[in-house]
Amino acid sequence: MYLIPLSNAFLNILKKISMAKIKYIEFSGAEHEIDVSSGLTVMEGAIKNKIPGIDADCGGACACATCHVYVAKEWIEKLPPKEDSEEDMLDFAFDVKDNSRLSCQITVSDELDGLVVNMPEKQF
Ligand code: FES
Repeated sequence: MYLIPLSNAFLNILKKISMAKIKYIEFSGAEHEIDVSSGLTVMEGAIKNKIPGIDADCGGACACATCHVYVAKEWIEKLPPKEDSEEDMLDFAFDVKDNSRLSCQITVSDELDGLVVNMPEKQF
């Protein structure tokens, strides 16, 4: 069996094909609907697209809680459950609710197409 090396250009095309539309809603109500590549986190999708309301001070290491979001109720059960580290770090987030998640801990996949997240009033 032969393996065919794939060029970076081709890999980039494949990456673009595999995307999910994520709607980020700021506390003010301003909405941003963004195509985010699979494999990135919801936090990375926000940061790359300069969406206000997610700070991500630790860069996604689950060590700051400044990527806190509220996941739309209809999406809560569709996401993988929180790891203990995310649960612990959420204790430091502002105004935590039942649907609170750290967006750096949610990896985007095709299955998350249409995900809606709301940002809290502030991140600390
Ligand atoms: S970016 Fe720091 S906990 Fe998510």
